[in-house]
Amino acid sequence: MTDSPFLNAGAGRPAQHTPVWFMRQAGRSLPEYREIRGSGSILDAIAQPELSAEITLQPVRRHNVDAAVLFSDIVVPVHATGFGIDVTPGTGPVAEQPFRSRNDLQRLPPLTPEHIQHVTETVDILVNELPASVPLLAFAGAPFTVASYLIEGAPSRTYQHTKAMMHAEPQLWHDLMECLSDYAIEFISAQLTHGARAFQLFDSWAGSLSAGDYDTFVAPHSTRVFHTLNERHADVPGIHFGIGCDHLLESMYAAGPQVLGLDWRTRISSARERMGSDLAVQGNLDPALVLAGVNVALDGAMEVLRDNGGHPGHIFNLGHGVQPDTDPGVLTEVVAFVHEQTAMEPSPS
Ligand code: CP3
Repeated sequence: MTDSPFLNAGAGRPAQHTPVWFMRQAGRSLPEYREIRGSGSILDAIAQPELSAEITLQPVRRHNVDAAVLFSDIVVPVHATGFGIDVTPGTGPVAEQPFRSRNDLQRLPPLTPEHIQHVTETVDILVNELPASVPLLAFAGAPFTVASYLIEGAPSRTYQHTKAMMHAEPQLWHDLMECLSDYAIEFISAQLTHGARAFQLFDSWAGSLSAGDYDTFVAPHSTRVFHTLNERHADVPGIHFGIGCDHLLESMYAAGPQVLGLDWRTRISSARERMGSDLAVQGNLDPALVLAGVNVALDGAMEVLRDNGGHPGHIFNLGHGVQPDTDPGVLTEVVAFVHEQTAMEPSPS
């Protein structure tokens, strides 16, 4: 057993307690974040290593979570190489000139360590400050989800331009996915080389695809991301996560993560029936339940623990990110509750 409940559970080993962290744990739900974040684009905040490190640490101090997730964003690499994308507060990533033709590949040169020096500097600060029991989690956007922002030019409900390119110009689609896979590999690999100890690939919007389209147009690329990272960074757990992806879980697991992220639509127990009883999972409390007050949140957390049935391969999380209007006090209570309910008796020495 290592000192880190998160790394133990990620490897399917018994842990001191079930580890907890929250997607979007750093951010607008925290008054201390709103106080130091400043106005302007989140990308300007991310460009300042001292500030980003402090924002990453805020939820660790406040909630006693078992992992720190780097304060960054999935569009940081494509912004850094000059594609022309920004993050509009309240909206999300916006590209004035979306990716629509082969010429646009020129706006995506190979990602080098210089492009993301501000990020690796933030990682350097954090690995010095974090205790051994709290690993830093690296992340990147999966090629499909990043491609959807570049092609649509803004958050979308239909993904119509993305799906049109996939089917009408499959060669261009696959070339773009190759390129964005390299971005994800190099971005995560740089964070791991600088001391992050686990990673998550966010394919937030993959659930918009049919299972057939996912397998043809996405799975080969995300598989290359996991295989390359698993080869370069042995024994570093990778998590694969998407929203509304119940119909894709077998394929997302086959891509090569050590841990499968689940949203609230899938029962943990049924994921293990489908993919094997030793499956390590992350999830999956509905984020709406933590908005409904502490009693509803703790009942929901208990239900997640029951569904997991004491299996060692469980990292507790929400099924998607913390909503900005969440009461952070409720999140702190959820962490304490999960820790208490799952605390392992110290072994007699
Ligand atoms: O605490 C953490 O989880 C780490 C920080 C984190 C951010 N973005 C910071 C952020 C993470 C893991 C992300 C990933 C991300 N970014 C995803 C995948 C996860 C998911 O939610 O599905 C996606 C799709 C994005 C793209 C993006 N960036 C969106 C949709 C938004 C929200 C726009 C808004 O203002 O509501 C952002 C901006 C963003 N990224 C914020 C934060 C804290 C909020 C804006 C701000 O504070 O300026």
